[in-house]
Amino acid sequence: MRLKIAILAGDGIGPEVTNEAVNILRAVAEFGGHDFTFVPLLLGGVAITATGSPLPTATLDACLESDAVLLGAVGDKKFDALSPDKRPEAGLLQIRHALGGYANLRPSIAYPALSANSPLRPEVTEGADILFVRELLGGLYFGSPREWNKSTGEAWNTMRYTRAEVARVARVAFELASNRRRKVTSVDKANVLEVSQLWRATVTEVARDFPSVTLEHQLVDSMAMHLMNIPRNFDVVLTENLFGDILSDEASIITGSLGMLPSATIGGAVNLYEPVHGSAPDIAGTGKANPLGAILTAAMLLRHSANLEEDAAAIEAAVRTVLADGHRTADIARGSASLNGAAQHLVSTTEMGKLVHQALAQSIDQRQSMHAV
Ligand code: IPM
Ligand code: MN
Repeated sequence: MRLKIAILAGDGIGPEVTNEAVNILRAVAEFGGHDFTFVPLLLGGVAITATGSPLPTATLDACLESDAVLLGAVGDKKFDALSPDKRPEAGLLQIRHALGGYANLRPSIAYPALSANSPLRPEVTEGADILFVRELLGGLYFGSPREWNKSTGEAWNTMRYTRAEVARVARVAFELASNRRRKVTSVDKANVLEVSQLWRATVTEVARDFPSVTLEHQLVDSMAMHLMNIPRNFDVVLTENLFGDILSDEASIITGSLGMLPSATIGGAVNLYEPVHGSAPDIAGTGKANPLGAILTAAMLLRHSANLEEDAAAIEAAVRTVLADGHRTADIARGSASLNGAAQHLVSTTEMGKLVHQALAQSIDQRQSMHAV
């Protein structure tokens, strides 16, 4: 299999964690005899510094010619004073828009080895395995009009959706739920917002095409509470852009760290893969960053852009093995010193990457020897 992957490492810890994810992809290519090429490109603060634009044309053009885009993180305190349309984050929103992916998949899983890391009790998180489907190209992020009128002291944004925009992302959620535990929870604020009433009516209509999937509706405020109270109750959670942004950060509490969460954005011309964590400028360059979010993002890339399900699952299993063996980057080392009998071992970003690589190599070796007999 040939795959051309655009690499937008970005700012802060982006380059460190992306490097580990690329090492894992190289290993998969080597083991499987695939031809993966990686094209490094500028996005975000590093692009502003080098070219004046958070999304240079050269980056966009090369991304559109790739089979997949792997992103690290964008954002740098240096640019805090700039208006939203000039900041590093504007580059991220522009590339999301240009690639056209509207369904952002954000899994949130309670790993048994990390159960002491969540402030929630283990009996609450146990067994939780949620897939958020966040609409990524509509709502307040992209709606117009939008303005801060400094002379009148007013500002406004527009939460706007069309029926077609809701239907296409709902379809993705139902399709994914069909291959999981067959439940979709659609989140809105239909008791107050017309746009949520359109959302609810459209999702209900789409649900008719998926009779084997159960649909429930939740208001976003009570959803924020249910998510922490009984996370096991949810399978696929479908929601609009801003609600999905907020709830997916909240859901990191189930896993224990934002550093563990991957994401994939599908449905457009080229799929975009990015860990959910930000650029964490305070720890950039210290070797403390957790590369597992980026590595799990690479697994999603193999699943959704290369159809290499076995390899994706092998990476996810390797991550579980490394965690079960007690290896922890600083962000996930907060739990008890000894877990399930295994002592915790504090590791750096690159050490964590190597450990996953080793675990992956072992499992692929086993798989290949099984195929050989
Ligand atoms: C995310 C981030 C982005 C978003 C920011 C950096 C623009 O918070 O991917 O969740 O709000 O979508
Ligand atoms: Mn966010």
